[in-house]
Amino acid sequence: SGTLGAAAADSGRYFGTAVAAGKLGDSTYSTILDREFNMITPENEMKWDTTEPSRGSFNFGPADQIVGHATAHGQRMRGHTLVWHSQLPGWVSGIRDANTLRSVMDNHITTEMTHFKGKIYAWDVVNEAFADGSTQHRSSVFQDVLGNGFIEEAFRTARAADPSAKLCYNDYNIENWTDAKTQGVYAMVKDFKSRGVPIDCVGFQSHFGAGGPPASFQTTLSNFAALGVDVQITELDIAQAPSTAYANTVRACMNVARCTGITVWGIRDSDSWRSGDNPLLFDGNGNKKPAYDAVLSALGGG
Ligand code: G3I
Repeated sequence: SGTLGAAAADSGRYFGTAVAAGKLGDSTYSTILDREFNMITPENEMKWDTTEPSRGSFNFGPADQIVGHATAHGQRMRGHTLVWHSQLPGWVSGIRDANTLRSVMDNHITTEMTHFKGKIYAWDVVNEAFADGSTQHRSSVFQDVLGNGFIEEAFRTARAADPSAKLCYNDYNIENWTDAKTQGVYAMVKDFKSRGVPIDCVGFQSHFGAGGPPASFQTTLSNFAALGVDVQITELDIAQAPSTAYANTVRACMNVARCTGITVWGIRDSDSWRSGDNPLLFDGNGNKKPAYDAVLSALGGG
């Protein structure tokens, strides 16, 4: 098949991108979006600072715009993200009482998931909870006030809110199998599966340097999959977008049956959060870069 989405679909996978609501009116942007991609992750619009800027007052307008676009164009959605230490409003990060924070977190998860119920394929329930270079959780208001159990609490609350959505844990720097952080997340997923804590998928953000994925990436994906979860590449971008680095990343996913899809973190280089690295598949004018052809062919298309 001749597009990223159609080529991925030929093996039962999806190919997605991060989308910014404010760019949907740019016709170069939306033309590429609707031609190439069949999964959408809102880049910022479902984050806590946008969706609940003050306690109990919810704003789903920008995210609704993206969901409306996806519905109109037959694209599925990944929800990103419910519980994260960043882009968190000050009224949440200032809470010191555990009972208050637990009910605030649970209400946020339940209200946001209920609003989008039936429209989200998979949610990043908890994002980036582990510390770099360590097997332990990072410090955050959730960790510091609620303790280690906050991740389990979030996943149990999420399952109750929308039982048909897949529930993912999402993080970066967990692509190299021997890294302590990878081992920490692996131990958590193994523990959740053994105790029946609801978790369906792990997202590997995959913000890579020019060398691309670590040599062990496919091993990491298959070891997590063997625990009984789907794995997904959720925020892919690669400095300078070398064709081989992109092809190696796609091949790692294609070689793992439970790797269900790949999402790149933006469409054109000019749309990227790291635009100075030119890390995406389309240049600033919306032209396909060499990495585009490498990805398409690694997906089995062309
Ligand atoms: O919306 C405001 C705008 O009103 C204001 O004028 C402008 C001034 O700086 O800021 C705008 O907010 C920016 C927002 O993106 C929307 O453009 C924030 O400053 C900026 O920090 C924010 O960056 C986002 C970043 O997450 C925040 O942590 C990036 O767009 C987004 O790509 C990035 O995505 C994250 C994933 O969610 C999680 N994994 C890492 C990834 C890359 O950092």
